[in-house]
Amino acid sequence: MLHRTLFSLLLLLTASSSHAAEQNTFSATSPHHLSAETCGTCHKQIFEQWKGSMHSQSSPLKDPIFAEAYKHVIGDATQEGLTKNGQYPVCLNCHAPNAAKDLKTKIDAQNYHEGVNCVVCHTLKDYKGTQTEKGGLRFGIQAYEVATDRLQGPSGRYLSPEANAFHPFQMEPNQLMLRTSRVCMGCHEQFINEKGVPMCQTGMEYSDMNAPVTCQSCHMPKVGESTDHSMLGGHSEGMLKRAIVVSLKTKTEGEMIKTTVRLQNMLPHRFPTGVPFRNVYMKLTAYDKQDRLLFNNFKTFPPEAKDDPKAMFMYNLADETGKTVALPFSASEMLSDTRFKASELRELEYNIPAKDVAVIRAEVIYHLLTPEFVEKLGSGLTGDLTSPAVAGIAEVKF
Ligand code: HEC
Ligand code: HEC
Ligand code: HEC
Ligand code: HEC
Ligand code: HEC
Repeated sequence: MLHRTLFSLLLLLTASSSHAAEQNTFSATSPHHLSAETCGTCHKQIFEQWKGSMHSQSSPLKDPIFAEAYKHVIGDATQEGLTKNGQYPVCLNCHAPNAAKDLKTKIDAQNYHEGVNCVVCHTLKDYKGTQTEKGGLRFGIQAYEVATDRLQGPSGRYLSPEANAFHPFQMEPNQLMLRTSRVCMGCHEQFINEKGVPMCQTGMEYSDMNAPVTCQSCHMPKVGESTDHSMLGGHSEGMLKRAIVVSLKTKTEGEMIKTTVRLQNMLPHRFPTGVPFRNVYMKLTAYDKQDRLLFNNFKTFPPEAKDDPKAMFMYNLADETGKTVALPFSASEMLSDTRFKASELRELEYNIPAKDVAVIRAEVIYHLLTPEFVEKLGSGLTGDLTSPAVAGIAEVKF
């Protein structure tokens, strides 16, 4: 601890002399053009974590899934002056907030390609809410009051001018934002498409149950004194394994094995949460001693809902004619939402013919994308983005 403080102090002393000019520049010009690389010269570990996170990938020049969708819905992200229905593309308010602050759409300029970078989050001064007083909606950077003169910090260390002089950029303590879920809500509470259909709703799902834990408690765990900025979610198999608990109960009744699959969502938001095309299903199989498949609740792979609708957990959207859509952005109605609610427990019952059964297995499988989405926007989407991930597994042997 002392060692670390001394080290920081040393760093700061050298920093405050060589960066004294920059501290003034911060208030004079545009803090939102500061690159994460600048912060990364000192905050090396956080920089590396951030770099591996989806936040650093969120612009249309990075994340392949978003890039494909953005191209399809809005256009070429290297062009200036793109609009959608005559308006600035709403997507950039969350996916490339520094560009949105300048109302620019050419994302290969400035630091825009860095997406949700350090200065985006560390200048969020207050959360205004995604609903306006007049009943309209605002998203991403528009839902916040943004500081233009000081960085916002999570500890109370920067109250005095002396303390502040140590940091190359002026700092304001703001625990009410950085230590609470409010800091995430402008971008994660909700997004509603142009036809009024809800897309991402993580924050809304969450406030439903007034959970006493913050987003940071799971998504930004403490590593020693530092906060992990990797912000893992659906792209991480480790996170998926924390999401759900699967267990099996079986009872042989005559020719049949009565099987109950118990699925417990461990999260204070839906599982799967986030964008509509995330999807989960529960695969129930039985094998004999030679590992030959005797029973499968789904006939095909990828699974079709008609085989076992109760074992599909997804968000289904439709167009004007009521037909399921591959891309949610222009959907006009919600058909069904079978995802787990926050903390929900579900039990599914099956009858499996008992003859020769040696093992019964339940697996919860997660996909970032639906097969229809991949088919529609597939060209850039390969590898891990389209392969299944196992979120949970349970087995009973006979
Ligand atoms: C010259 C080195 C240096 C640079 C450049 C730098 N910092 Fe820091 N910063 C530090 C040190 C040292 C600390 C104190 C130790 C710590 O908390 O890690 C600190 C603390 C912080 C804190 C914690 C505030 C609190 O309330 O405790 C935040 C947030 C922060 N820096 C953000 C940034 C951002 C964002 C940038 C880029 C715009 C940046 N820093 C650039 C050295 C630097
Ligand atoms: C300025 C907007 C913004 C803020 C503030 C923000 N996020 Fe994000 N976040 C995004 C965007 C945009 C993405 C999606 C990036 C992509 O996949 O293209 C994202 C992605 C994520 C993911 C990863 C999802 C995945 O697919 O793996 C997690 C987890 C996450 N954010 C958590 C948080 C938490 C927790 C906070 C608050 C501490 C927060 N975010 C604050 C915009 C934001
Ligand atoms: C998505 C929003 C978000 C982004 C992007 C982000 N931070 Fe943070 N940062 C936070 C939050 C929230 C906290 C406070 C976490 C807590 O205390 O629970 C924090 C804490 C910190 C701290 C305090 C020390 C610590 O380890 O807790 C530093 C330093 C820091 N961030 C630097 C950075 C730097 C440098 C970058 C870019 C490489 C960055 N942050 C990107 C949201 C963000
Ligand atoms: C109890 C721990 C926990 C808390 C608290 C929590 N999450 Fe999560 N979150 C997870 C896990 C585990 C996953 C991975 C499963 C999934 O993607 O549904 C996840 C997934 C996500 C994703 C990824 C969605 C995607 O498309 O990949 C986002 C975004 C997210 N959470 C945001 C939030 C926000 C915002 C909050 C606060 C309002 C929050 N989470 C609170 C554990 C938590
Ligand atoms: C209110 C903020 C917000 C707005 C506006 C927004 N998004 Fe997102 N978007 C997110 C967040 C947060 C995530 C990632 C986490 C999740 O799944 O919720 C995301 C994820 C995505 C993904 C999935 C990326 C991946 O890696 O799987 C696509 C595609 C996407 N958005 C497209 C769009 C398009 C196209 C627009 C504009 C029409 C748009 N988004 C507008 C917040 C937003």
